Amino acid sequence: MNNSETLRPEEIAPLPSLDVWEDDVLARYPEPETKAKEEYRNYDNPGRDTVREFYRLNHQYQTFDFVQQKKAEFLKFDKKELAIWEMFDYLNTLVDDSDPDIELDQLQHLLQTSEAIRADGHPDWFVLTGLMHDVGKVLCLFGEPQWAVVGDTFPVGCQFSDKIVYPEFFALNPDSKDERYNTKYGVYEPNCGLRNVHMSWGHDEYLYHLLKDYLPEPALYMIRYHSFYAQHRENAYEHLMDDHDREMFGWVKKFNPYDLYSKSPKPPVVEELKPYYSELLAKYLPAVIRL
Ligand SMILES: [Fe+2]
Ligand SMILES: [Fe+2]
Repeated sequence: MNNSETLRPEEIAPLPSLDVWEDDVLARYPEPETKAKEEYRNYDNPGRDTVREFYRLNHQYQTFDFVQQKKAEFLKFDKKELAIWEMFDYLNTLVDDSDPDIELDQLQHLLQTSEAIRADGHPDWFVLTGLMHDVGKVLCLFGEPQWAVVGDTFPVGCQFSDKIVYPEFFALNPDSKDERYNTKYGVYEPNCGLRNVHMSWGHDEYLYHLLKDYLPEPALYMIRYHSFYAQHRENAYEHLMDDHDREMFGWVKKFNPYDLYSKSPKPPVVEELKPYYSELLAKYLPAVIRL
């Protein structure tokens, strides 16, 4: 399996929409003072089956070779040019409005995240990180399967941790039977630093590469590792991290609650916020991004 042409339609889009993955993460890591919602505990909920199927595909197909292929394919940035507001417009077309649980579109999620960061008085590049952190989902423009755009991320090329959600599905991944990749360190050295580690492919890694020349390092860590729950919530990959990663993960952990818990009942009014964010975007990023 190396490209979407060999996949069946139900393997490309197991979820009714990409947001279903994020809803599931929120159920797994509820805000400390709230209890997990009953509906999420109900494993008969048909919504759960699509999430399970999504993870089955993700864990089966995200191999070391798959990641190398996707990097070769997408890190050439030879596909398209888009202005940033065009990217937001595109992301909004990904919302499936047949799902009654989803009231916010992608841009509203991004603005709620960034506005919560701004309200806490953080530096402007942190606010910008909130605004941009999910823009890597533009990968959907190119017909990528959902499990290669969203989902918890994890290192490939070494043993998969049982702290990753649905670890049993890694038995389907050929790397778990490949002795180059199935030991604790696999192709890596102890504490080699995450910059030397290949992560499963998705919107986080892609956006990191899109923005790496423009944002300060803490912002880039937040972008690159925001779905790496097995580390920033479960500390399962300490053995690959160096001291610099540990320092930078302070920022990743600081960012995560804004991503998960910033949903407010009052949706942001895009037109009111647009002048502030247009200026912020212009301060750090080029007008047009090459995808
Ligand atoms: Fe994300
Ligand atoms: Fe997000």
